[in-house]
Amino acid sequence: MTTGIGIDVEALRADTPGCANVTHLNNAGSALQPAIVTDTVVAHLRREEEVGGYEAHAEARDRVAGVYASVGALVHAPIERVALVESATVAWDRGLQAIAFSDPLAPGDRMLVSGSEYASNVLPLLQLARRTGATVEVIPDGADGAVDVEALGDMLDERVRIVSVNHAPSQNGLVNDVVAIGDMLRMHGSPAWYLVDACQSVGQLPVDMGRIGCDVLSATGRKFLRGPRATGFLVVSQRMLDELEPFPLDLHAAEWTTLEDYELADGAARFESWEKAYAALLGMGAAIDYALACGIDAIAERIGVLAARLRTGLAEVPGVIVRDRGSTQSGIVTIRVDDAAGVVAGLRARGINTSLSTPDYSRIDFGRDQATGLVRISPHAYNTEDEVDRAIAGVAELVR
Ligand SMILES: Cc1ncc(COP(=O)(O)O)c(C=O)c1O
Repeated sequence: MTTGIGIDVEALRADTPGCANVTHLNNAGSALQPAIVTDTVVAHLRREEEVGGYEAHAEARDRVAGVYASVGALVHAPIERVALVESATVAWDRGLQAIAFSDPLAPGDRMLVSGSEYASNVLPLLQLARRTGATVEVIPDGADGAVDVEALGDMLDERVRIVSVNHAPSQNGLVNDVVAIGDMLRMHGSPAWYLVDACQSVGQLPVDMGRIGCDVLSATGRKFLRGPRATGFLVVSQRMLDELEPFPLDLHAAEWTTLEDYELADGAARFESWEKAYAALLGMGAAIDYALACGIDAIAERIGVLAARLRTGLAEVPGVIVRDRGSTQSGIVTIRVDDAAGVVAGLRARGINTSLSTPDYSRIDFGRDQATGLVRISPHAYNTEDEVDRAIAGVAELVR
């Protein structure tokens, strides 16, 4: 069955053993992996068991190099600017640590964030604000709920040092125009460091680092990319490499050349740690290659079809408010119901995986309508229309 432009849903499902067990609509949490991903991870772990961890790594060197190439192909970035880490949060933090260390903030400096920023990206900025006297300000939303790019332009001055925006927020269904935001920063000649959280967009939407022109792009492996848990990557701009020094460095990020001196590693390796979960990272590479072989545009279209079906169906259920905003929407569908935790648990009991979004994940966003909890339903290209319809029917039964 081919649905959308070139997605063979049955083939995708045949590649995904978990489809036989659950209706997995929690891809914004952690997706079902294609078998090739698990096989890749397990094969490397077996090799570590057989010949030793360092030896297995030595054998896999070319394939590890291939993971950088896969990330580069996925987000259209040169491989020298790719760093492999263990999560989107670590990726984003590595960028911020370099800024805070090498280009410190001062009283009066400003840090701008989107109104749907993820908690783990706001908390370190609040820490910095407390310590330095800089401020954290929220960029207003436009009429559609996404970042108002014109309003951002009006906020820009030479004291704006950091602009942090997510591409696809965790919980409100919208997609921020991160290319237009980058264009606005460039048009104003802004000195700000531009951080883009692509955690929820990689694997479900095209992401083009070259067009976005950000300084830091952070992403995770386990969500729409369908990779293993505890994998992620960071892609940095040439400006980051030219002007900043990551902190702290380890013996992979720099070479200790003399008693008092050191030299930074070439390229984005300076943002990495020496120790890595190679089995998991190879699995992430396999997941990226799988997504690229399916075609990101085709995946995006298929997810869009399923998310639209969910939004339309759920909007007709009494007691359900579809909370999503944005003129461009992602595959993350969120609904308000009286007892969101109860609905998530009730769906789980019916073999349907969704997740609960709570205010502590995104205070600014939840503050808008005082929502206390949302049911988040996030389909992927391997889900079927039937699964989506069963989720809608399940919600309808549970809110009755
Ligand atoms: C928008 C967004 N950014 C960042 C993160 C953090 O990702 P990780 O858990 O891989 O650090 C999440 C996780 O849900 C997220 O939804």
